[in-house]
Amino acid sequence: MQTKIVKPTKKNIATCAQSLRQGFLVGMPTETVYGLAANAFDQKAVERIFEAKNRPQDNPLIVHVHANYDLTQLVSNITPLAKACLQAFTPGPITLVMKSKGTVCPAVSKGLETVAVRIPNHKVAQRFLRACDLPVAAPSANMSSRMSATSAKAVKQELDGKLPYVLDGGVCQIGIESTVVDVTGEIPIILRPGKITKEQLQTVAKQVQEKTKYQAGEKVFSPGVKYKHYSPNIPVFVAQFGAYNQANNVYEEMKQEGLKPVIVCVKSEKQKFKGKPVILFGKTEQDIAKNLYAVLRKAEKSYTSAILCAPKETAFGLAVLNRMSKMNSYKSKIK
Ligand code: TXA
Ligand code: MG
Repeated sequence: MQTKIVKPTKKNIATCAQSLRQGFLVGMPTETVYGLAANAFDQKAVERIFEAKNRPQDNPLIVHVHANYDLTQLVSNITPLAKACLQAFTPGPITLVMKSKGTVCPAVSKGLETVAVRIPNHKVAQRFLRACDLPVAAPSANMSSRMSATSAKAVKQELDGKLPYVLDGGVCQIGIESTVVDVTGEIPIILRPGKITKEQLQTVAKQVQEKTKYQAGEKVFSPGVKYKHYSPNIPVFVAQFGAYNQANNVYEEMKQEGLKPVIVCVKSEKQKFKGKPVILFGKTEQDIAKNLYAVLRKAEKSYTSAILCAPKETAFGLAVLNRMSKMNSYKSKIK
C-alpha cells in the first residue's frame, strides 16, 4: 500500500473518512501529536493499529470524537467532575477516562471498565471526525516505543505503507501528548501529565491526585505508562535545567566512548556549549514541547547520541520532563 500525504480539502477529508469506514487506518492531525485513526466500533480495524505500531496488546486506546458527539453513546456515567472538565477543557489537549458503556469494540479498552475520551482542538481533526461521524480510536502515529509524530511527514516516515492516507494538518502546536485524567470519581487523577496542568485542574476540583510514577510490581492504572516510550534510536542523556557542566562532561564522556553526540537546548543556552554541535528546540518552554520529537528525529539522522537540556520544572515543564525522562537511556559514570 502506498501512503499519501493529502491536504485537508473537503474532498480529501471525505476520502479519508470513507477509507476509515472501510476499515483502513488514517493519519489524523491533532493539536498535541498525530493520531493513527481507526473506527472504534470495528474490531478488525482496531487490531490493525496494534499490528501497524507493534503496540503491546494490553495498552488501551483513546477514543476521539467531534465536539458535538453524544458521549452517552460511549460512556455509562458522566460524573459531575467529568462534566466540569468537559466544560472547562474541551475541545482541548485532555483525555478523560470515564466508565465505559461497552459499545466500543474490546480491542479499544482491553478489558478495562473505562474508556478514554478525547475531543481534540484542531480544525482539521474536528472536520475529519465529523465526516467519520464515528468514535475514532487513535494512539499516537508512531512505532511503539518511538517518539510521537508531530507532522504528516513524520507519520509517513514512521508508518509508510501501513495506511493509505495521512491528512496533513500542519505541525502540531503543542507537540506532546494530552493530559490523561481519570474522572470516574470525585477527585481527578492525572495518569499522564500534559498541557492541561494540575493547577488548571484545581480550578474545577479542590483536590487533584497524580498517579504517574509506579514502583515495580504495583498495579498500573494506565497501562501505557509501564512501557518504554517516546525514544529515538540513539542513546539520550537528560541534563537537569541549568546543569551545563554536567552536560559538557557527559558530552566528553560520550566522545571518549566513540559516540558522536549532539547537544539539544534552547537558544539562550547555546553559549554554554561553545565549539560543540548543537540543535535548538527554539526559544521557549512551548518550543521545547512543540519541537521535542522533531528535533530528536533530526538528531538520530546525523548523530549517534544526544544530550537534552531539560526545561525548568514549571507546571508544563514537568510534563515535558516526564517525556524526556522516559527517553533517558544513557548511563553516565559522571555524578
Ligand atoms: O494527545 C494524545 O493523547 C494523542 C493524540 C493522538 O490524541 N494520543 C496518544 O495516544 O497519545 P497513546 O495511545 O499514545 O496514549 C494513550 C494513553 C496510554 O498511556 C494508555 O495506556 C492510556 O492513554 N489509556 C487509554 N485508555 C485508557 C483507560 N481506559 N484508562 C487508563 N488509561 C488509558
Ligand atoms: Mg503513544
